[in-house]
Formats: sequence, C-alpha cells, structure tokens
Amino acid sequence: MSQAAGVAHPTADGCSVVIFGAGGDLTKRLLWPALCNLGKDNLLSKQLAIVGCGRSNSSSAAFRQHLQRSLTQFSPHAAARKWGRQALNQAHYLGGDALQPALHNQLGKLLQRLHKQHSVLGNVLFYLATPPSCFAPIVQQLGKAGLIDQKSGWRRVVVEKPFGHDLASAQQLNEQLAAICHEDQIFRIDHYLGKETVQNLLAFRFANGIFEPIWNHRYIDHVQITVAETLGVQQRAAYYETAGALRDMVPNHLFQLLSLIAMEPPNSFAANDVRDEKAKLLRAVHRLSPEQVLTHSVRGQYCAAVVDNATLPDYRQEPGVDPQSATETFAALKLFIPNWRWAGVPFYLRTGKRLPKRVTEISIQFKKPPLLLFEHIQATNILPNVLTIRIQPQEGIWLRVGAKVPGPAMRIQDVTMHFSYQEQFRIPTGTGYETLLYDCMMNDATLFQRDDMVQLGWSIVQPMLDVWHALSPRDFPNYACSSWGPKESDELLARDGRQWIVI
Ligand code: BG6
Repeated sequence: MSQAAGVAHPTADGCSVVIFGAGGDLTKRLLWPALCNLGKDNLLSKQLAIVGCGRSNSSSAAFRQHLQRSLTQFSPHAAARKWGRQALNQAHYLGGDALQPALHNQLGKLLQRLHKQHSVLGNVLFYLATPPSCFAPIVQQLGKAGLIDQKSGWRRVVVEKPFGHDLASAQQLNEQLAAICHEDQIFRIDHYLGKETVQNLLAFRFANGIFEPIWNHRYIDHVQITVAETLGVQQRAAYYETAGALRDMVPNHLFQLLSLIAMEPPNSFAANDVRDEKAKLLRAVHRLSPEQVLTHSVRGQYCAAVVDNATLPDYRQEPGVDPQSATETFAALKLFIPNWRWAGVPFYLRTGKRLPKRVTEISIQFKKPPLLLFEHIQATNILPNVLTIRIQPQEGIWLRVGAKVPGPAMRIQDVTMHFSYQEQFRIPTGTGYETLLYDCMMNDATLFQRDDMVQLGWSIVQPMLDVWHALSPRDFPNYACSSWGPKESDELLARDGRQWIVI
C-alpha cells in the first residue's frame, strides 16, 4: 500500500514469480491479468520471470498459449495485453507433483537458470494457488530443497484463502509454515484488502478530522456490515459444502472490514503498526457463549424461487451439493467489542448468497439527538443519521441527515448527501490483485494477514462453528432466493428495535 500519496511508485524488485496450481482459474482470471496491469503501468521490473507449476505434463510453449488466451478473455486493457504478449517469453512451465521432492529439485535448477537468463537477482515469490491441503506440504518441500533460504535474494510465500477451516487447523498451518519460513516471508491473502475502497477506509477515518471525535459509543448507536451476493454456489460445491457462509466470508472478509472500521488509529501506516491495531481490535471482540450463539447468530440456506422469469434452484439441488446438506449459505451475527471506544455498541454482520442484490457496505447509525426542540411536531419520524460506506458496487459514501421541508410549517425529512468514488476518481478497473502482488514484491505486508490476526478471526467464529455443528439446522432451507435471508435475521435486529439498512 503506497504511503506517499501522489508520489510515483517505484518499480518492484526483479524476481521470479512461481505459481503453484498455475493451471487453475486464479492464474488465468486474476494473477496473470494483474501482472499485465502492473506491467503496463511500468510497476514491474524488466528482470522478471514467471514459472507456472502444475500437475499436468504440459510444456512452456503450451503454458504461454494458455496465458495468451487468458489475455483475450480477462485483460480488457489493450496496453496490458500488449505488455503480456511481450512478456510471454519470460514465462516457463514445470509439470509434476508439487508434494514430491523431485519437482522442487527441478525448480531449484530452473530458478538458477532463470536467474542467469533474466537476471532476476535470486528473488522468488512463491504463490500457492492450490487446494489448501497442499499449502503446508508444498512449503515443506520448498524448505527441504533449500528454496526458502534467503542467501541469494529474498524468498516470499503468498498463501491463498482459506487459511485453515477452524481455529485448530489455522493454528496448525501457522505452525507448519513457521517451521520453514519467518513470519515476514509469509503473505496471507485476503482479496478484500486489495479493493481500493477497503483501503479507503483508513483514509476516510484517519485523514479527516470530523469523524474521529464522534467515532465511539457516545455518538454511535450501532454498526452494520452487509456483504450480499446474488450468485449462488455456482461450480464450487466441493469447496463450499465443507465451508459454508460463515467460514467462507466472516473470519476473513467481514472481519477485515470490522477491524478497519473499529480499530484505533495506528502509530503509522507501517505494516505492523496497522496489523497490531487490527489484532488488538479482534482480541477485544467478545467471544459468544454457546447460549449467546443461539440468540446472537442466525444461519440460513436458500431455496428455489422465480427471479426475473427464471427459476433459481434450491441450494440442495445445485450440482455437487448433498440433497440433505446442512451447509449454510447465509450467516448473520451480533457482536460486541467491550473496549473503551465501543462498550455497548452492537455490530451486526451479515453475508449470504442468492440475496436480492450484490452489495458490500458498512452503515454507521448515530444516536438520535435529544429532539426536545421538535417534540411538538413529529419527533418519531425523525430518523437517526446514518453514514454508509459502500465498498462495492457503485463505491461511495452516503450521509443521511434530517432537513426542513420548505414551507411555513417545521417539517423534517431525511435527505442524503452522496459522494461517488467513480464520478470523482474513476476507480481503476483492475483485478484487485495488482496492489497485493506489487506490495508483496515491495515487501509491504500491510494488506496481508498476520498469523495472530488469522487465529483471532477464527477464535471469534469458533463458538458458532461448534454450536452449529452440534445442532443441525431443522428449518433448512429457510429463505427464498432473492430475499434478504431468513426472517430470524430481521428479528435479530428487531428485538433491539433496529432494522437492516441497505442504501
Ligand atoms: C471469496 C468467497 O473469498 O469471496 C466467495 O470464497 C465469494 O464465496 C467471494 O463469492 C466474494 O468476493 P467479491 O470480491 O466478489 O465480493
């Protein structure tokens, strides 16, 4: 993350980018297009090599063709495609079993060759775009082959999501990685942190003087975070059946938003200053007791409905899904952060698939003013101020305020002040992975999850995982496609005299 606003970015260090799982979707849809976007913006060194590792016995020529096809499909910028075509001869392929030593020995030799051929300075970024069960075994093999050793240049490992499937497995994975790498060599990706508007949360809170004084329990009634998707499970049932909405979205993406919106100001934007504050915030979140899980959380699974003249199927009828599946496709929860700033302020979080619209937003509802002045008119109609930060789509900020309706009588109506990111700046149409790849090459870990943060995230959802696992859901499926989740989700807020907000 650039700390120097307006300052041209330096070119990243020359390096080899080794992608394990290079034949998969991530490489063609996101990683390669992101590298091409960085290349077109002159942010990559000319001393760059790309090594795709995959199981198939393919060749470098075939890999280059694969990357070439991806350019046409996933790189909308002509300049990025041009950069990509020119860089194709810097791409190489190594086929074999990444869990066996042979491949890593070959990789070591190839890296030495590339080092000479492309003068890549011995720096290597290993990107694990593989199934999560391969993360630790691959790093162990890299370690055994001496490829994590930093004598001849830096060595960094990027680990994709999901990082573990519960607290114990995340802890174990952290330990396995720590046995081979230093923490500062490990870059755990959460792609939400690559989103421009997520990064803007820091600017919004800490580059403006007016919000911070009222950013606390004295002025804020509650906070809501919604991450809604219209899509269903698509072709990902094999993974999603083992995950569900809670694991898939909450300890990672939603908690990133939660920590950015609620953390204390960091001492600086240096990686560990920011991550210390995020970790401190996550540590302060109240862990739900099993009884509280029953009253503070809601789960749901979608069922068929006709939407825009098309019938969307039950989750249980989706390809690859168990017809009796107990996997949740919706999760909502109420959390408290009993620290000095947030004591007594509820944070309501929800996420789900097949909801009525795709939207990620954070709403901060302020307390009502005393209203004595307006008691004789319609005080109950005066709505509290709400500040909504839309992360996607139509990125922007909305502030709801009460205004006098013109005319002789004193009537108040709520109106909205709106700032559109797109109108003001034009959001770059990248993949979201550009910043993350660039930061990793620049050794800036601000936007990556640290070991303790991942574990803290899991430790907050663990009570829900335990209770939900112990009590199978009796009412699944319990919400229709294109509705806002089960009725219990609305009741979660209605019990507190509140309701969900969507701009
Ligand atoms: C991924 C989840 O991490 O995030 C998906 O595994 C989800 O299930 C996706 O659809 C949402 O990301 P975005 O960027 O589309 O909001």
